[in-house]
Amino acid sequence: MIRFDVLTIFPDMFAALTQFGVSGRAAQRGLYRLETWNPRDFADDAYRSIDDRPYGGGPGMVMMPAPLASTLRAIADVQRDELGARGPVVALSPQGRRLEQEDLRRWAGLPALTLLCGRYEGIDERILRRHVDQEVSGGDIVVSGGELPAMTIVDGIVRWLPGALNDSESAPADSFVDGLLDCPHYTRPERFEGEPVPEVLLSGHHERIARWRRRQALEATARKRPDLRARARASGRLTQADEDMLAELGL
Ligand SMILES: C[S@@+](CC[C@H](N)C(=O)[O-])C[C@H]1O[C@@H](n2cnc3c(N)ncnc32)[C@H](O)[C@@H]1O
Repeated sequence: MIRFDVLTIFPDMFAALTQFGVSGRAAQRGLYRLETWNPRDFADDAYRSIDDRPYGGGPGMVMMPAPLASTLRAIADVQRDELGARGPVVALSPQGRRLEQEDLRRWAGLPALTLLCGRYEGIDERILRRHVDQEVSGGDIVVSGGELPAMTIVDGIVRWLPGALNDSESAPADSFVDGLLDCPHYTRPERFEGEPVPEVLLSGHHERIARWRRRQALEATARKRPDLRARARASGRLTQADEDMLAELGL
């Protein structure tokens, strides 16, 4: 059971996680716990201010450090009381290290994870330096707040929690798990807009199907993400049979 503590000024957004799909079902089963913390509750003025103008001028507002620090202290206290230690504090930021599937798998083993969602122009730098263990990015894009990338992280972690996926759903076959993209998938009808399902998938021949899927995964990775293919090769994840298949494909 992992505990997520999310610092956000928009706690209601997280209902999208706890009420729908795989992450909703896992929440109902008690496989994880998600608590939201609104820094406005830790503001020290009557207006519950959490942002102010940037020193040095310029557009936009910056999240003030004091309410964030107080919220993070309160989260750490609760985690220590309940679990005996505090989990890492991850700040969502376009300047962070880009999120990878391996991070999610690793974090799924933590007792607690704190996610700090920025808004406006961002978070006062002193919070990042003094209270945050790492900055993580949801991609080389800028969105309006850390909530959506934080939700991505929670959902991606939940998929790794034992019991979160049904037998029919599988995390190990997903893209990135073994360093490759997933193979293509088909369902009924057998022919759609004139295009048939690949014959091998109708053959019932498990070994041939497995070989076809591996070949397709290799081809998709080599064509769509040559960087991943290079990494898989460098880390010794490609077998001689994989290399032979790629050579056959001229890739
Ligand atoms: C409008 S953004 C601020 C962007 C900041 N001025 C910059 O360019 O680095 C507001 C907040 O959204 C979140 N955010 C935006 N893009 C993100 C991304 N790609 N990954 C993670 N968080 C992001 C961060 O928490 C950030 O503090």
